[in-house]
Amino acid sequence: MSRVTPDQIRQMKSRGERIPMLTAYDYPTASILDSAGVPMLLVGDTLGMVVQGNDSTLPVTIEDIIYHTRAVLRGAKHALVVADMPFGSFQVSVEETMRNAARMMKESGAQAVKLEGGVRVAASVRALVEAGIPVMGHIGLTPQSVNVTGGFKVQGKTERSARALLADAAALEAAGAFAIVLELVPAELSRLLTERLSVPTIGIGAGPSCDGEVQVIYDVMGLFPDFTPRHTKRYADLGAAMRAGVETYLREVRERSFPTEAQSAPIDASLIERLRAESSTTKDPVESEDA
Ligand code: KIV
Repeated sequence: MSRVTPDQIRQMKSRGERIPMLTAYDYPTASILDSAGVPMLLVGDTLGMVVQGNDSTLPVTIEDIIYHTRAVLRGAKHALVVADMPFGSFQVSVEETMRNAARMMKESGAQAVKLEGGVRVAASVRALVEAGIPVMGHIGLTPQSVNVTGGFKVQGKTERSARALLADAAALEAAGAFAIVLELVPAELSRLLTERLSVPTIGIGAGPSCDGEVQVIYDVMGLFPDFTPRHTKRYADLGAAMRAGVETYLREVRERSFPTEAQSAPIDASLIERLRAESSTTKDPVESEDA
């Protein structure tokens, strides 16, 4: 089966087909999501929080994203893999954004990059697309700006900010983004954006009208212990399953019911007997010298 392309993602919108997307950060998770048929995976800078345990995405580096994207690509044979451009990698200039995005594509093998911002980053998005790098936009709540927004809050509730979001979305579309993430945007504003744009909108906390939905895999699988964002839903409680499994492991190791012979390699019994006999007859060299 061949890999999903940005063009196919755009066509899904034209056909009215929903576009599910999940984050992934490692090989086994990517293998499971890919074989389940997830068409698009995001190696998000959320890894700074859910994998590394930071309280924001700001510490994530280009090297972190490259490392995790390579692992994801070993597991994902079919999904389109999007690598997130981390804080500081696309804010300086169009040239530096180009250099960093090209490095991420070359060294990670990703098929596209995502970057946060609208009008402000449109010139960079255009340059990347013209250079052959597919770009996913990301507007609404942009977690890398947490120190400006003052927290993970819904965006676009006032007339000014709603108009700014419309302008951001239009700028990204005109610059050639193949899809746009809408994070924490009021549902009716997402609907309007989705109707206006020819490219797919991928919501997260943006209501049911977006063309697609992205969620953080650790949130939906119950693997992130610190908090559960309001915009998510638990489809499994792997955290509880893991804890129960670990408790059983602890008990079995302590009471010596694990490991058993079944987990061990056999050896010729006569060899062990010979070794045992030798060790019981061999005197400690220091002791024999003293004697
Ligand atoms: O980094 C990430 O995982 C994201 C999604 C939440 C959209 O940007």
